[in-house]
Amino acid sequence: GDYTGALRPRAHFSPPKGFMNDPNGMFVDNNGTWHLYYQYNPTDIVAGNQHWGHATSPDLYHWTNQPIALAPPNSTAGVFSGSAVLDPNNTSGFFPNTTDGVVAIYTLNTPERQVQELAYSYDNGYTFTTYDEGNPVLDVGSNQFRDPKVIWYEDHWVMVIAYASEYTIGIFTSPDLKDWTHASNVSHVGLLGIQYECPNLAKVPIGNSDSSNVTTSDGEGEYVLTISLNPGAPLGGSITQYFPGSFNGTHFTPRDNAARLSNFGKDDYAGQFFYDHPVSIGWASNWQYTNSVPTGNEGWRSAMTLPRKNYIQDNGIAGYQLVQEIYDLSPILKNRLQINDDAANGTTSAHFTNAVYFDINVTLPDSPTFETVAGINFTFAADGTDEYLKSAYAFAGSVPYSVWIDRGHLDGFEHPYFTDKFLGSQVRAAKRIQGVFDRSLFEVYVDGGAVVGTSVVFPSTPLTKLDIGSSGLPEGAQVSVAIWELEDTWA
Ligand code: FRU
Repeated sequence: GDYTGALRPRAHFSPPKGFMNDPNGMFVDNNGTWHLYYQYNPTDIVAGNQHWGHATSPDLYHWTNQPIALAPPNSTAGVFSGSAVLDPNNTSGFFPNTTDGVVAIYTLNTPERQVQELAYSYDNGYTFTTYDEGNPVLDVGSNQFRDPKVIWYEDHWVMVIAYASEYTIGIFTSPDLKDWTHASNVSHVGLLGIQYECPNLAKVPIGNSDSSNVTTSDGEGEYVLTISLNPGAPLGGSITQYFPGSFNGTHFTPRDNAARLSNFGKDDYAGQFFYDHPVSIGWASNWQYTNSVPTGNEGWRSAMTLPRKNYIQDNGIAGYQLVQEIYDLSPILKNRLQINDDAANGTTSAHFTNAVYFDINVTLPDSPTFETVAGINFTFAADGTDEYLKSAYAFAGSVPYSVWIDRGHLDGFEHPYFTDKFLGSQVRAAKRIQGVFDRSLFEVYVDGGAVVGTSVVFPSTPLTKLDIGSSGLPEGAQVSVAIWELEDTWA
């Protein structure tokens, strides 16, 4: 791939060329290599002709593009979204001679039907053989039945899958990945939108980020069910909602009736958890405009979100919520551009070339009194142009304890649904604000990922200057700012 385009993210994954959407089949092999597959049209820069593209990484930031993993059997079919599992105990019977077996479970889309198929791999997921003698393994006679995500529960496999146009997530069980039995449904929960897609059921740690280093097959945890909606998201197009809850092997019970969104922006969709790891990646785009974004001029469309470590936290009156922490960035922290431990009510600036990361820590005095308007803002601009991207955290003002992104002062893209202002709110003041600006993608993470905003952004020339300014904070407030250039992982 040619990664030199001005809009190409340097630290986020994007495909070598062509069109990408959902992450698929993510797992970690026995050598510790992370595998990312993705919905891929290798022959055009709009969605269609769906394949599974493939890339591998030692650290979730340095990616190596691999040959396409799954291709459709004919020109009217598509290999749609799905998942992958490790089968060390050979429950499937595909792997009599190895404990490294990998099975992909995906939707084959044809004009008549959406059916679920298997493909197996003897080489850690680099090449797959379709299970032609047994496919499809699940066919309910529907053309709106897709996106199987499979996990292991104690002594059997569990699949969650969308009856897309019925607002229903089906839960199926199997001893061998081949015979599936319907166990229960979760239907009409939270927001409906127009369709349910790409469900995930995952066990994630409860508590703090330290506990999310563990894999999820043992130890205490909470289940989380995610359901992606498209179209019909509250902000338009696509978004993902989630439900913390419990799972007994056949039935999922949400803790409460609240619909919680995983992102306050509109560019984080169809996220998937790695098999047996509480680590996730989402597709950083929105079906409303993804087929028209200007990266098409560079021969590619869509990037993934940053990788995230997930856990569930009791947030008091707001209930249990998913915290999505930026996965360990240290492999790509390149140069520290600024460090300012005395940044309250002042400005800290840096110039950068590729992608930039900032980390702001705030300590407030007890019972702080803010000025009428108080906050910390992050402005990305370029010398010699009047374009800018602005984001801020407000401690006081019209919406206290909120974070916002405004992409409306950039000139690179116009589209009726490319709305420009996004707001995420909290019930108490933030202690930490992190952000990554990466050419055509901006992500902000408040309090270690308790609130996350992801926005694609399209400047007409590269933004290379960051100003972080704070004002209106009370005497005694301490603000420290660190700014890092991130490595250009595609150079
Ligand atoms: C979600 C989705 C899935 C489907 C895939 C097709 O973005 O519509 O439901 O499997 O994309 O590419």
